[in-house]
Amino acid sequence: MKRMITGLQPSGRITIGNYIGAIRQMINNQDLYESFIFVADMHAITIPQDPEALKKNIRELVALYIACGIDPNKNVIFLQSDNYYHANVSWILECNTPFGVLGRMTQFKDKSKKHQNFMAGLLTYPILMAADILIYDADIVPVGKDQKQHVELARDIAESFNKRYNTEFFKIPEPVISKETSKIGDLIDPTKKMSKSAENKKGVIFLLDSEADIRKKIMGATTDSEMNIKYDVENKPGISSLIAIYHELTGLSIAEIEEKYKGQNYGTFKKDVADVVVNTLIPIQERFNKLVNSKELDDILENGKNKTLEIAKAKYEQIKKIVGLDR
Ligand code: AMP
Ligand code: TRP
Repeated sequence: MKRMITGLQPSGRITIGNYIGAIRQMINNQDLYESFIFVADMHAITIPQDPEALKKNIRELVALYIACGIDPNKNVIFLQSDNYYHANVSWILECNTPFGVLGRMTQFKDKSKKHQNFMAGLLTYPILMAADILIYDADIVPVGKDQKQHVELARDIAESFNKRYNTEFFKIPEPVISKETSKIGDLIDPTKKMSKSAENKKGVIFLLDSEADIRKKIMGATTDSEMNIKYDVENKPGISSLIAIYHELTGLSIAEIEEKYKGQNYGTFKKDVADVVVNTLIPIQERFNKLVNSKELDDILENGKNKTLEIAKAKYEQIKKIVGLDR
């Protein structure tokens, strides 16, 4: 069975964009691959985080993974920071990655502009991500489009390491990018991606939002003045984003949705979208509430820690030998 690894950062509250674009893909994959799903908590501290909030976000993300349907019996679920070999392998990879490529990463360019006096970790971030992937000999890495460049860098790092040390030590991973309709726009500014870090929370549906908030946000979503429920991202980004949500959560095709709502007004459609979102999120929230403070959650993480430590330790001992750090 091929191996898959992926993770999300606990850098804020999880949105329906994360659910549709990332978590659901993990759920679809769990029967197809040997899956490793983690919380990239060490990546989160590349930008300043409040320790209390970070701690809460980490635990909530694990509970949400499981509440959304990631089955702890089918996936190894773990915290990146629980496995200290990630940082050790990352260091060795840092010493095998040309400095110049890091400054060319799109995400680094964006984030370094946004955060004054940013820290070195923001630059070396993709190397830690390469370690996360390469330690596990992952075949595939499902990520959003914005992370594709980092997975490509992980491939480059693996290839040049293998070449330099004349070995086939690292497996070359493949990025898997979710399909286009999976990209959910912000409800207020639908030309932008819905993002956990958006300033205006009215445009973002969080998985833990109350039913009233979900309905209010969807009814208030930006559309256009045409009164035509048609998927056209370029000219009608608002209605297209709502169609994308409806499509993703009901499984109806875009054409079926357009047909179903022919001649209907936006208010009717928005109400139906809100119903679908509420019906999806309420059961997730119920499972979440039972899990988040449970011992079951701690047991799952402890199990993930032990399983991944074993794999990562073996890989680390070997890489030390390859580069000459063994006794
Ligand atoms: P982020 O929250 O930006 O760290 O994104 C983590 C992952 O969630 C991305 O790599 C995407 O796979 C997914 N994702 C985030 N926002 C959206 C969105 N608006 N639409 C679809 N997928 C998203
Ligand atoms: N950088 C990814 C993000 O922000 C999270 C991540 C860290 C990751 N390490 C990874 C994803 C390894 C896939 C594989 O979304």
